[in-house]
Amino acid sequence: MRFKVTVVGAGHVGATTAQRLAEKGYADVVLTDIVEGVPQGKALDLAESAPVEGYDARITGSNSYEATGNSDIVVITAGLPRKPGMSRDDLLMKNYEIVRGVTEQVVRHSPGCILVVVSNPLDAMCQAALKVSGFPRERVVGMAGVLDSARFRTFIAMELGVSVENVHALVMGGHGDTMVPLPRFSTVAGVPITELMTGETIEKLVKRTREGGAEIVAYLKTGSAYYAPSSAVVEMVDSILMDRRKILPCAAYLQGEYGIKDLFVGVPVKLGSRGIENIIELKLAPEESAMLRKSAEAVSELVGVMKI
Ligand SMILES: NC(=O)c1ccc[n+]([C@@H]2O[C@H](COP(=O)([O-])OP(=O)(O)OC[C@H]3O[C@@H](n4cnc5c(N)ncnc54)[C@H](O)[C@@H]3O)[C@@H](O)[C@H]2O)c1
Repeated sequence: MRFKVTVVGAGHVGATTAQRLAEKGYADVVLTDIVEGVPQGKALDLAESAPVEGYDARITGSNSYEATGNSDIVVITAGLPRKPGMSRDDLLMKNYEIVRGVTEQVVRHSPGCILVVVSNPLDAMCQAALKVSGFPRERVVGMAGVLDSARFRTFIAMELGVSVENVHALVMGGHGDTMVPLPRFSTVAGVPITELMTGETIEKLVKRTREGGAEIVAYLKTGSAYYAPSSAVVEMVDSILMDRRKILPCAAYLQGEYGIKDLFVGVPVKLGSRGIENIIELKLAPEESAMLRKSAEAVSELVGVMKI
């Protein structure tokens, strides 16, 4: 028996996630979207790459949720991009409606699944998925920190001219301008970057990380990043399905950890077959804690707009 993963939203992030997952070979993938033909077409195209790539996983596309039944994991990437004249709050409410509808359908067909939320604004959408699903917090997790940390790792490796594999980095907080890259917990072959670079250089890399999403949007003009985001999603899915128990920064529903209550914020968690197996509480310095609290306040404001 192969695992089954549904990816909702067959756009850039969803389709690339489906591709990366299919190429792992251990999960059948169902791609869904509201646009007729797109999930079917992309799924068939991916299925036709299987003989060459050498995987037997089945990939199907659908506009209905019947095909998604009994998925182990459902990745939610459905959403709208911001259109001219739309405020942040307008987009928030539009995507809230989408994520709410998607979650209701998903839960009906896969009541035991783990939800991996990707749609933006990320932390608020996680909150919506948790509330609508009625799932325990272990089974609703948001992707942001793995991506933000991957960006930080990339910039550190570029700066020092070392392999990305030697670089570990940690970015906590909400997925937005207030994210909290943590140089003290970011290392190269075990050595904190605070011992390897000047404060000024670190500040430059931190700024580039914070603005990492916008840097890509500025190049692409239409649309946003999807190669690195889909890689990040698949690392999380892989850790869950294979019960690898990787410690990864993810959006998790905090209930007192880090002094934050009833809110999704990015923190290091242990991801295994039950979803969030543990929330890791690091000893933060006072200024790091203050940044995290500020980031949580920004998330809390957005959640307040949704009135859920
Ligand atoms: N968390 C992160 O770090 C991160 C990173 C990248 C992108 N994102 C977010 O992921 C989302 C997807 O990004 P993208 O680049 O793939 O966008 P995209 O526009 O390419 O794809 C979104 C897809 O969602 C579909 N959709 C809309 N409403 C739907 C519904 N009710 N049911 C099913 N499908 C529906 C659309 O038809 C479209 O195909 C966006 O909200 C984006 O901001 C988050």
